[in-house]
Amino acid sequence: MFPTETVYGLGANSLDRAAVTSIYQAKGRPADNPLIVHIHHPAQINELAVNIPQVAFVLLEKLSPGPLTLVLDRHPQIPDIVSAGLDTIAVRIPSHPVALELLKQSGVPVAAPSANISGRPSPTDFQMAREYMEGRVAAIIDGGPCHIGLESTVVLCKQDRLIILRPGQITREVLQQVSGLPADFLDESVQEQHSKASPGTRHPHYRPRARVILLPQDSSLWDEALRGVDTASLGLLCLDKDVSEARASQVISFPDVDTYAREYYRSLQTLDSRNIQVIACTAVSDDGVGHALMNRMRRSAGLQ
Ligand code: TXA
Ligand code: MG
Repeated sequence: MFPTETVYGLGANSLDRAAVTSIYQAKGRPADNPLIVHIHHPAQINELAVNIPQVAFVLLEKLSPGPLTLVLDRHPQIPDIVSAGLDTIAVRIPSHPVALELLKQSGVPVAAPSANISGRPSPTDFQMAREYMEGRVAAIIDGGPCHIGLESTVVLCKQDRLIILRPGQITREVLQQVSGLPADFLDESVQEQHSKASPGTRHPHYRPRARVILLPQDSSLWDEALRGVDTASLGLLCLDKDVSEARASQVISFPDVDTYAREYYRSLQTLDSRNIQVIACTAVSDDGVGHALMNRMRRSAGLQ
């Protein structure tokens, strides 16, 4: 297991079917949820994908290494188990120096999902990674805390447009500006119809043990939203500006949305370890990295 700038990853040689199978086993991951292959140099993309549209090279040049994953047509040499039988393959170049060095030294493209037990919040520091995976993996590299804390933006690349399958720190606006192409979020209803487009989104995700509820940004509405919830077993995540409004036994607050995003998964874990039954997360404005954070919070709450 190794650190990246987004979350810790659980890696194996993507060319070795048995090694990839062991990733699914260690995580308890459903067999229909494909993996991302990690590389250190853009030229390696030709070993992983075919029919690569020009825009993929532009995005790689301008935004990689970084928190961006491109979905392209899969090269036949890549075992189909890597992409759960899909004809496509997800590829990314992480920017964390430890990840880059590991990828260089391994000499192979490395398949790596987030290093959590399937369905749980992703690990964003060494301690979390270790709690999940000690005894299940060969080694865990300590690279300290991840500086983004939410997973990469996943983008399906077409010749004439981009489709965002998972929001992340790299926003739709940035993708449009850099590519010169329209970029759209995959509409949930379309996603249902074409459920093969982003299979990972069908399963429960980012769920701590406690039940998660999402609170409105306006703190004057919190009492109403929390009616019937026992304050003694309630944990709250919010921005510093709202901390004086908090009526919960445990409160974790953040100075800004970037920090909220970076600390989100770790905070869920912390509250779980303090015997909290319900975690209330306050909504943030649904743009920039706030859009990615809202996506994760909705899914933690089972709303998506
Ligand atoms: O930031 C990240 O992307 C982290 C670090 C470790 O790199 N990795 C990560 O992997 O989040 P994972 O497996 O937890 O999430 C991969 C996501 C899933 O939602 C999966 O469905 C989607 O990428 N995905 C992978 N291959 C795909 C494909 N061929 N087509 C569509 N979606 C794909
Ligand atoms: Mg994951």
